[in-house]
Amino acid sequence: MGTKRQFKVWRGDETGGDLQDYQVEVNEGEVVLDIIHRLQATEAPDLACRWNCKAGKCGSCSMEINGMPRLGCMTRMSTFTEDETITVTPLRTFPVIRDLVTDVSFNYEKARETPAFAPPVGVAPGDYRMQQVDVERSQEFRKCIECFLCQNTCHVVRDHDENKKAFSGPRYFIRAAELDMHPLDAQDDRKTYAQQHQGLGYCNITKCCTEVCPEHIKITDNAIIPMKERVVDRKYDPLVWLGSKIFRR
Ligand code: SF4
Ligand code: F3S
Ligand code: FES
Repeated sequence: MGTKRQFKVWRGDETGGDLQDYQVEVNEGEVVLDIIHRLQATEAPDLACRWNCKAGKCGSCSMEINGMPRLGCMTRMSTFTEDETITVTPLRTFPVIRDLVTDVSFNYEKARETPAFAPPVGVAPGDYRMQQVDVERSQEFRKCIECFLCQNTCHVVRDHDENKKAFSGPRYFIRAAELDMHPLDAQDDRKTYAQQHQGLGYCNITKCCTEVCPEHIKITDNAIIPMKERVVDRKYDPLVWLGSKIFRR
């Protein structure tokens, strides 16, 4: 038999809303998404929430729990004290559709803007060959489940809709880094592209994206900083500058 615990859940739509109080039974081993499901099964059958796998792999159940961007299905109730009120709100960076469901199409637009993998001319699919070391270098970035928690938490866009046009966000910086490390990608200047078109320069390395990533991808250290360093190298490194002058002649 579980115990009753206090919850506040944001209810509303694009026209507005507020936090509603609920007392919900909590049992051993449950996660926040279980509580949302219990609410839907009892007193709030119309509570909207996006989810799919309940295993931390689909990236659908992103929400803010006590103000922290988290996956509802991976946030254990045992991480809270018994007397703590648990507040569940939708992701703040994206427009609310209803209750805990937000419109994340910003991310799909940025995905479409990111130039796709470009294989070298004359190499047919099936003939691509890579060294294992190259496969491993970018493997970390391929663990991304597209939960968009990093996109939601980044201060560049979190309260600044006006920056969204010019800023692709950490999820697409790891995509750029992954392609940059790909030995067969013929799109030759991912770093300059990231600087000029993805808004890499807006990132001031606060690392909040890395802190919230449920896949523990070292977004800042392994993707953003190397991409920035190489852009800086190209722009300011006196040897690179000298080389470019000599070879241009
Ligand atoms: Fe989610 Fe991490 Fe991918 Fe960002 S990088 S979308 S936080 S899995
Ligand atoms: Fe944003 Fe991550 Fe940079 S949170 S500012 S993209 S380090
Ligand atoms: Fe799939 Fe939570 S339901 S990640």
